[in-house]
Amino acid sequence: MSTLVGIVMGSTSDWDCMKHAAAMLDEFGVGYEAKAMSAHRSPELVAEWTRAAAGRGMRCLIAGAGGAAHLAGVVAAHTPLPVLGVPMPSRHLQGLDSLLSTVQMPKGIPVATFAIGDAGAANAALFAIAMLALSDAALAKKLAEFRVRQTEAVKKAELPKS
Ligand code: RP5
Repeated sequence: MSTLVGIVMGSTSDWDCMKHAAAMLDEFGVGYEAKAMSAHRSPELVAEWTRAAAGRGMRCLIAGAGGAAHLAGVVAAHTPLPVLGVPMPSRHLQGLDSLLSTVQMPKGIPVATFAIGDAGAANAALFAIAMLALSDAALAKKLAEFRVRQTEAVKKAELPKS
């Protein structure tokens, strides 16, 4: 399976959240590579991996970081690929710091930013899948079926009896 999506996170401690992006890509059979590397603790590593990503066949990158979360912006600076940012829930500010750091990119280098935490990680993967589905009919069919299943689950949902 070719690696179409790169998932990068600032720390191994982010995996508990970022694994939801990986799980969604697994569900759709989309090949990915997941790495933990830090924009401030290992800046050369981030630059090297990011610069090589497009040449290695990746079509977009999902970047998750917490606190002063500059990873997604740094990644976006090193690649022409679309970068999808996921703000990690943080200990002191519950991810609001991560959200603002990721979403408030100055004009010129965009980062498409998703919700804080698990939902953001899963949605970043769904967004990556939607982009890939533009040129992959089989993937587009899987995405449409996923949405139908989701709708059916809502229709069947019952509230607990009081
Ligand atoms: C950020 O600092 C990481 O993305 C992580 O969310 C946060 C804490 O990292 P650790 O101290 O757990 O390595 O760089």
